[in-house]
Amino acid sequence: MVLGWIVLLSLGLGSILWAELVRDFYHLLAHHWPPLYRLHVWHHRVFRPDLLPASEAIYRQAHWYNDVPEALVMLAFSALPIALVSANNLPQSYVWTASVGVIYTLGFLLTAIARGAGISGADELTDLTHRPGPFQETPSRWFVNRTYHWRHHFDNQKAYYCGTLALVDKVMGTALSLKGKRIAVTGASGTLGRSLLFQLQNRGATVVALTSKPQPITLPGATEPLETITWQAGQESELASVFENIDILILNHGINVHGDRSPDAIAKSYEVNAFSSWKLLELFLATVRTNKEIATKEVWVNTSEAEVNPAFSPLYELSKRTLGDLVTLRRLDAPCVIRKLILGPFKSSLNPVGVMSADWTAKQIVNLAVRDVRNIIVTINPITLLAFPIKEFGVSTYFKFFSKKTIEG
Ligand SMILES: NC(=O)c1ccc[n+]([C@@H]2O[C@H](COP(=O)([O-])OP(=O)(O)OC[C@H]3O[C@@H](n4cnc5c(N)ncnc54)[C@H](OP(=O)(O)O)[C@@H]3O)[C@@H](O)[C@H]2O)c1
Repeated sequence: MVLGWIVLLSLGLGSILWAELVRDFYHLLAHHWPPLYRLHVWHHRVFRPDLLPASEAIYRQAHWYNDVPEALVMLAFSALPIALVSANNLPQSYVWTASVGVIYTLGFLLTAIARGAGISGADELTDLTHRPGPFQETPSRWFVNRTYHWRHHFDNQKAYYCGTLALVDKVMGTALSLKGKRIAVTGASGTLGRSLLFQLQNRGATVVALTSKPQPITLPGATEPLETITWQAGQESELASVFENIDILILNHGINVHGDRSPDAIAKSYEVNAFSSWKLLELFLATVRTNKEIATKEVWVNTSEAEVNPAFSPLYELSKRTLGDLVTLRRLDAPCVIRKLILGPFKSSLNPVGVMSADWTAKQIVNLAVRDVRNIIVTINPITLLAFPIKEFGVSTYFKFFSKKTIEG
C-alpha cells in the first residue's frame, strides 16, 4: 500500500521533472540552433537590465514567439510518460498520475497565452523570474529565482539556461559563468594560487594576482606578467578600492606553523589564516550594492579539510576552523554567494608531502564551482565528504538560532 503511494508520487513528480528537463533543453537548443534562436531572441530583446520591458508590444510579442512555442514543445513531450505507462499495461491510476506533467505544462501554456494576449495582471502573477525591483536574495541553489535568471540575460546568455530547477545547469557546468569575470586570488605566488589563476584564465576569466611578495606573477607559458597587486596582512583596507572592480575574490593565502606553539606562532596563524581573510571578506562584501553585484559577485574561501579533520598541526587547525566558522556565520546573511573550498592534502610549499597535485586540485575546484557547488570538497579522504556537510549543517543551524542579523548586507 505505502509502496504503491510512493510509486505514484514518484511518477507524478517524475512527469513534472521531465517537463522541466524538456523546457531547459529546448532553451539550450534555442541558444545553439539559429532557426530557434530567431524566435528566442525576442525573449532577450524584451528586458532591460532593471528587468523592465523595453516596450509592452515587444513583451507581448516575445510570448507568442518564445514562451508559447516552448510550452507547446513541453506539452508534446509530457505525453511521453503517459505513453510509456499505457504501453506497459499499468493500472489506470498510473496513467492519471503520469498525466500530472501535462496538467503542469498546460498551466505554463495558458499563462504564456495570457501574457501574450496582454491580460491585465498576468505578468505580475506568472512571470516571476522577470519581475523588476531590487533583488532580495542571492542566486538560489536549486530553484531558479530572479537573481539566478538575471545572469542568463545580462551576465552570459550561454549559461544559466534553467527555468525552474537548476539541475541541467549543474550537470552541464553552466550554473556559474567565469567568462569575462575579473577574479582576484590571494596567495597568488603560492602553489595553489598559481594553479587557480591558470585554470581560471583558461575558462575565460581575467585574473588578478594578489600577493604579499614584491614580484609580479607570470603564469607558465606567458610572456607578460599578470595584473599583480601587492598587499600585506594588517593592511587589508588598502584593497577596498581594488575590490570595487572585482567580480570574484578567492581568499587562498595561508601559512602552516606545523608544531610551533609559541605566542608568535599563535598570533601569526590567527592573523594570516583567519583574521586577514575575514577582514578581506568584509571589505569585499561592502562592495556588493546593486542588483548586478548581488547576482554576479562571489567570494571563495579556502579553509581546508582541517575544518573537520586533523592536519597534525594544531595552530593550523585552530586558525582554519576559526575562519571556517566565521564564514559559516557570515554566510547566513551575506549579500552575495560565498563558497568554501574544503581541500585535502596537495603538494605545495605549505605541504611538501601532499598526495594530490595543485593543478588537479585547482581544476576540480573550478569544475565544481561552475556546477554551483557552494561547499567545494576536493579530497582523497572519504570521511571529509561525510563529516563536512554534517558539521556545516549543524554549525550553521546553531548560528542561525543563536545569532541575529543586526546590519544590512
Ligand atoms: N597544501 C595543502 O595540503 C592544503 C590543504 C588544504 C588547504 N590548503 C590551503 O590552500 C591555500 C594555499 O596553500 P598552498 O598549499 O598553495 O601553499 P603555499 O604554496 O605556501 O601558498 C600559500 C601562499 O599564501 C601566501 N602567504 C603566506 N604567508 C602570508 C602572509 N603572511 N600574508 C599574506 N599572504 C601570505 C603566500 O602567497 P603570496 O606570497 O603570493 O602572498 C604563499 O605563497 C592555503 O590557504 C592553505 O592553507 C592547503
